[in-house]
Amino acid sequence: MEYRYGKNINYEDFSSGRVLYHVKGMTNFPVRLAQEIYRRCLEHSPKKNDIALYDCCCGGGYLLTVLGFLNQDTIRKIIGSDIDMEMLNVAEKNLSLLHEEGINKRIAEIEQMIASFQKQSHIEARKSAIKLKSMIRSSIEFKLFHADALKEINLGEKPDIIITDLPYGNLVDWNSDEENVIDKLLDSLHGICSSDTIIGICMDKKTKVRNEKFIRLERQKIGKRKFEILRKR
Ligand SMILES: C[S@@+](CC[C@H](N)C(=O)[O-])C[C@H]1O[C@@H](n2cnc3c(N)ncnc32)[C@H](O)[C@@H]1O
Repeated sequence: MEYRYGKNINYEDFSSGRVLYHVKGMTNFPVRLAQEIYRRCLEHSPKKNDIALYDCCCGGGYLLTVLGFLNQDTIRKIIGSDIDMEMLNVAEKNLSLLHEEGINKRIAEIEQMIASFQKQSHIEARKSAIKLKSMIRSSIEFKLFHADALKEINLGEKPDIIITDLPYGNLVDWNSDEENVIDKLLDSLHGICSSDTIIGICMDKKTKVRNEKFIRLERQKIGKRKFEILRKR
């Protein structure tokens, strides 16, 4: 796949555990790829700014937080849900970094670590935190809630873009015994989409996406992953 939007630059300021919070069991999503999927979704969306972005399997909110930093010009609101309460607590901390108060708190935490341990990695983390702080141009609101994405989702609004990295074994698997989970997931997303909502889903490249209620706008393979961009039929 040729990247059209995700710049080939060093994204180490976003490394999980550096400024953004990391806990065991959390997956790392490649930043360049996240940005590529978001911008391709935006290209398909009739709405170009004031975007309400939703992730129905948001985990620790890494993907959403990174997209928030990189897309201050287009995102108005971020919404995330997950079946795992512990992950949602981490997501809350990560998304708070998008606000001055949250990033200042993180800088103070890192400074405390520098004072206690005098480690170079903490000095680098402070530099990254200051860079991330300088990226904040708008105050993106965020909302997190607990939900099983395979059941009816009570979102209360129609998101403009949904981006999600599906569970695919190894680190995180589907918390469900359902067969045809992707089909089931798309059925529940169908209930919260408007006819303009664009969905970008990323998964293991062997996973098949079949659901009559959606049309595929794009499909791309990248290494072991693939992503598909869909819209309601
Ligand atoms: C690949 S991880 C997502 C990581 C996330 N994008 C991030 O940036 O941290 C997949 C997530 O799906 C969640 N999950 C598994 N089954 C679920 C279900 N039935 N409903 C909602 N979330 C589910 C897991 O708890 C996990 O956090």
